[in-house]
Amino acid sequence: MRLPAAAALAAILAGCGGSHPAPSPTAAPPPLEAHLKEFVLQMKAMDLQVENLQADLGAKKSEPELKARLSRIRKAAEAAAAIPCRDVEAENRDVRHHFDVFLSDLARLEGASWAGEDGAANWRLLGKSCMPCHAAYRPE
Ligand code: HEC
Repeated sequence: MRLPAAAALAAILAGCGGSHPAPSPTAAPPPLEAHLKEFVLQMKAMDLQVENLQADLGAKKSEPELKARLSRIRKAAEAAAAIPCRDVEAENRDVRHHFDVFLSDLARLEGASWAGEDGAANWRLLGKSCMPCHAAYRPE
């Protein structure tokens, strides 16, 4: 029997999910779900760099090494900002606005001194800069 083209394509797409079996053998994940998954991956990357930065501060790493962490956070934030993770375009615009605010806070931290005590103070500011968007958008 010949599958209709759309069903065949859906079956092929469903087979691309790696080790996780798709919930339905014929349905590809809706784009929003895929976007959210990618968005969460970027968030996890940011979180890991914030944690690693704290460890680097504890280990008294050099300022260029500390700032390399900030660059990685910027890359992940820019990638996340490019993902339309809401189904309402006005909300996507609002999230992007939060990212603009975050990226300008981050730019300030990238330009600041991270030497000695400054590093710990800036690390706290970095953590705070994640919060306004989470307060508005992160589910409980
Ligand atoms: C412009 C908005 C925005 C900014 C800025 C932001 N986040 Fe998020 N973050 C979100 C949203 C929205 C979610 C929830 C995603 C979802 O629907 O599960 C989230 C979720 C997360 C999660 C949970 C991921 C999971 O496992 O489900 C972590 C961890 C996280 N963010 C870390 C950070 C860190 C660290 C920063 C700052 C360096 C940051 N975020 C800045 C919007 C933002």
